[in-house]
This record gives sequence, structure tokens and C-alpha cells, in this order.
Amino acid sequence: MTLPPPCPTSPAAERNKGAILATLQDLLPPTGRLLEIASGTGQHAAHCAAGLPGWQWQPSDPDPQSLDAIAAWSAACPCPGLLSPLRLDVLHPAWPVESPGAAPWDAIFCANMLHIAPWACCCALMRGAARLLAPAGQLITYGPYRVQEEPLSPGNLAFDADLRARNPVWGLRWLHEIAAQAVSAGLVLGQRRALPANNQVLVFTRALPAG
Ligand SMILES: C[S@@+](CC[C@H](N)C(=O)[O-])C[C@H]1O[C@@H](n2cnc3c(N)ncnc32)[C@H](O)[C@@H]1O
Repeated sequence: MTLPPPCPTSPAAERNKGAILATLQDLLPPTGRLLEIASGTGQHAAHCAAGLPGWQWQPSDPDPQSLDAIAAWSAACPCPGLLSPLRLDVLHPAWPVESPGAAPWDAIFCANMLHIAPWACCCALMRGAARLLAPAGQLITYGPYRVQEEPLSPGNLAFDADLRARNPVWGLRWLHEIAAQAVSAGLVLGQRRALPANNQVLVFTRALPAG
């Protein structure tokens, strides 16, 4: 019998997928549609779709190798709510899920992209979420962030230096700058939760209309 090739695996995603799923289960209502940005290997998609049985989970990534990895994880862990991955680059002015009459998304989830992509990707993520989220929808991001008055952990300090050495436009992002970008897109940072290993979950919702 020929065994399928092993799925490309990120050790970090194996470590953090349990805490991410528990947080999503706590934040999200029982049913809905979620668009995942920057799915990477697809481990979060496979794990979280199985743990959120009332949800449709749409993984995406711009990188063809990641799309193959996501498809491999989907095949290895079949789940009715897990959709085929889409090629989606947040920097494109229109995302492939945008068409006239397309239903809005109840949640958009993005883990570990903001620090390993140019700042323009944060701006584009906020604008895209503002275009695509349902009125009560949530943009949920996960990763390490810099917070004013909160010293970076030694691990995140070293991680930030390593990212900047690899690419000067990468690096851990300041929470207040992300929040300001959200506001300029029409969203508001509503919650911040600490997760293991000095990571955080940020939850953005639509800003209430003034007045
Ligand atoms: C560190 S990986 C994170 C993967 C996964 N979310 C995780 O936490 O394991 C960063 C991901 O961001 C994606 N990415 C980079 N630039 C992007 C862009 N412009 N639009 C969407 N995704 C992007 C990469 O292809 C990669 O899969």
C-alpha cells in the first residue's frame, strides 16, 4: 500500500493550534462562515474546522506551495466545513471572494502574517475586512505584537531582530499602529487576549456609526 506523503508541518502551528481553537470557540457564535487569510501549511484550518462544526472555513494563501500544503492537510483531515483553498493576496485590490451579491463573512482570521509581510499587508487586511465582514463580523488576528509600556519578552525581542535581519520591512508590529490602521478602515480593536508563548489574539469589529 502506498502511503500519502506527509503533510508539510510547522512545529509552531502544532504547538499553538489548540490555544487558537479554544479562543475561536469562545469568541465565535455556533455557526457562520470564516475566511482565513495566510493559511500557510493549513494546520490551523484542518484543526479549527474540525473543532468548529457549525462553521464553514475558507482557507487561503498567495503562495502556491502553501495551497498544496493546505490541500494535503484537508485531504488528510477531511471535514465537511473545510473548503478548498483559494489563492488570495491581501495586496490585490479585489480579493477572489468578492463578487456582486457574495455573502459577507462572519469572521476573518489571520495568524502570523503581519510581522512577516510588509506593513502594507496590515493596511490591506484592515481594508479587506472592512469590505467583507458582516455587520456583526469579527476580524481576529493572532501573533506576537509590540505593546507600549509592555517590555517585549526576550524571545520576541530576538524574533523581531531575526525578522528584520531577514527582511528590513518585516518585524513585530506595534499594537497602537495596527489599531490606528483598523480605525482608518472603519474597524475598532475591541479585545486583546494573551495566548501562550507571548502571543496575542486581537479582535476587531465594525466601528459603530457616529451619533
Ligand atoms: C508565518 S506564515 C503563517 C502561516 C499560518 N497562518 C501560521 O500561523 O502557521 C505567513 C504566511 O503569510 C502569507 N502571506 C505573506 N504575504 C501575504 C499576502 N500579501 N497576502 C496574504 N498572505 C500573505 C505567506 O504566504 C505565509 O503563508
